[in-house]
Amino acid sequence: MIGHGYVGLVTASIFADAGNKVNVIGRTPEKITKLKSGDPLIFEPGLEEILDRNLKNGNLNFTLDYDSIKNSKIVFIGVGTPSGKDGSASLDQVYVVAEMIAKNLGKNFTVISCKSTVPVGTNREVEKIVKKNAPKNAKFAVASCPEFLREGTGVNDTLHPDRVIIGSESQDAIDLLLELHKPIGGERVITDLASAEMIKYASNSILATKISFSNFIAEMSEVAGADAETVLEAVGLDNRVSDKFLNVGIGYGGACFPKDVKALAYIGKQMKLDTGILDNVEKVNVNARHRFAQRVIKNANGKKLAIWGLSFKPNTDDIREAPSIDIMNELLKAGFELSVYDPQAMGHIRKIFGDKLTYYEDKMKALKGAESLVVLTEWNEFSSVDLSVVKKTLVNPVIFDGRNVYDPAQMKKLGFKYYSVGRKDIK
Ligand code: UDX
Repeated sequence: MIGHGYVGLVTASIFADAGNKVNVIGRTPEKITKLKSGDPLIFEPGLEEILDRNLKNGNLNFTLDYDSIKNSKIVFIGVGTPSGKDGSASLDQVYVVAEMIAKNLGKNFTVISCKSTVPVGTNREVEKIVKKNAPKNAKFAVASCPEFLREGTGVNDTLHPDRVIIGSESQDAIDLLLELHKPIGGERVITDLASAEMIKYASNSILATKISFSNFIAEMSEVAGADAETVLEAVGLDNRVSDKFLNVGIGYGGACFPKDVKALAYIGKQMKLDTGILDNVEKVNVNARHRFAQRVIKNANGKKLAIWGLSFKPNTDDIREAPSIDIMNELLKAGFELSVYDPQAMGHIRKIFGDKLTYYEDKMKALKGAESLVVLTEWNEFSSVDLSVVKKTLVNPVIFDGRNVYDPAQMKKLGFKYYSVGRKDIK
């Protein structure tokens, strides 16, 4: 496995736990040292135990050295594919790694497979690079085997995926990948390289579309005086739609949806297609953050706010493309003072905002002196909090709830002013 981010590290650990010998190759010595000592470098529930177990039994090894590829049957590429300025996926790391793999291929047949999300055609390019740089008689085949794990539930998602996608022209590669995935659940979809690459982008984009559609219905519901949650719950009862990914709020963030929607739109534009559907998914998402920030700016009773939740979603320390970043920037620009709390993500946020924010290790302490509370991530500890204590601690009993964590009827009963998404304000 080349790369030890969320995808690389979780997948490598699960394959090691299933009894395979897995070498994880990185490029930063300090990170490899930490990983060797059992520090996963990321917060992912359940991962540390698996890492520890497989370091001890020797199934998992971390190294800077590509030499281990010589004896590998399968090499996965799990490096980052960040968004370029134009929305395209930057493939520099994938191509550099492909060259390194080629130069280290051994005598045996090797499958080279991208776990990273890559645009249609990338695996072909990888094939060309490997061909150009590999020893003359090297036997290899390229396969696309995209990963669908979510952060926060990565271990379970990897063990029990809905489907395993394998795209390749080589039956030997398909057979090896099927064997590797034997202990893992889910339907098998065997297809060609381009379709496998497209499946990943199409999957992430349809989920992002459901979220943006829901947030548009939320915006409409606020104007119409309807309740978006009731509307979408009823819509989701139609099993052709399903009730998943219809949660309204301040939109999607993270390392995948924002990047992949933009990348698919970029690919469509290269093909001279009308990409309006994807462009608008992105537009509604950006607007969901802005709309929420403006509602806070318009309705807050003072200039001191407490912010609960900074990660892009609960159960992760990840803040990549987190709505909290845009919202806090907008609030700071409007002259607010922000006291922030998050159970996992404060270290990362501090690196961006420095002393522009005041950081609290205790969520209740963050409320002291604050004139309103703003909730930006639905961590469990926020929904289970004693709201009567929250009310007593805040200067004004005002809550802006970007994730619809609380029940409006209860907020009314407790005497809060309460603003949530797609639902009537409680004033
Ligand atoms: C996503 C895909 O789910 C996963 O299959 C893929 O491999 C990587 O991208 P992830 O980014 O970890 O996973 O998180 P996910 O749980 O899908 O949530 C993404 C974002 O959408 C979060 O910001 C979340 O808050 C938001 N979201 C999700 C909503 O706003 N509403 C919803 O109904 C669901």
